[in-house]
Amino acid sequence: MSQKIIIAIDGYSSCGKSTLARQLAKELNYIYIDSGAMYRAITLYFLRNHIDWTDEAQVQEALQQIVLEFHPNSNTGQSEMYLNGENVEYVIRDLVIAEKVSEVAAIKEVREFAVHQQQLMGVKKGIVMDGRDIGTTVFPQAELKIFMTADNAIRVERRFKELYAKNPNITIEEVKNNLELRDYIDSHRDVSPLRKADDAVVIDNSDLTPEEQLRLAKELAMKQAIQSY
Ligand code: DC
Repeated sequence: MSQKIIIAIDGYSSCGKSTLARQLAKELNYIYIDSGAMYRAITLYFLRNHIDWTDEAQVQEALQQIVLEFHPNSNTGQSEMYLNGENVEYVIRDLVIAEKVSEVAAIKEVREFAVHQQQLMGVKKGIVMDGRDIGTTVFPQAELKIFMTADNAIRVERRFKELYAKNPNITIEEVKNNLELRDYIDSHRDVSPLRKADDAVVIDNSDLTPEEQLRLAKELAMKQAIQSY
């Protein structure tokens, strides 16, 4: 016997969090939420509307104009990010967004806005959410917390392959610099910085296949779900 639980997956950029979270949610028939997509969509809105995010009043006003939703893609079944009714799943993966998102995600008002919505999504449990502060701030009560790590060179290579498929002009140096900068900003900001929750299980997937990491995470999830019953 088991019951639905909350699974929080945190870690640095390009550690394979979203791959694992998505697969785990599918296996368990849970909802998957990519919390990073929400910060990316907010960044897209700010850039498009020339919001000066160092100005608190402008940020507050802009946030009131933003509606974020996840809807499943009718072909793949995967949930995709919508900003004010527009599917932005593809455009938010661009390096232009990646270069600014950590700055935007460090703003207190932005975090309050996103975290509140994330917490509402978890009310009924049965959710896997990945991000940077899910186990520490969004769901400190999560039954299972996973903190993912991977070797730096492997992370750079993974992100490079992803971005190169869309933009063959991109260089490995650009990707490396962006990852290092984001990791630094994400773990040094004042409001809910990236850190491992004390009760999180660490998974280093440098040498794990996606199947192996999924098996490991699924075992942990089943154990927690049974214990929580
Ligand atoms: O997971 P990602 O790379 O798509 O996240 C994009 C950015 O959003 C990342 O640089 C940090 C920020 N983020 C955050 O601050 N808190 C989260 N829960 C998720 C993402």
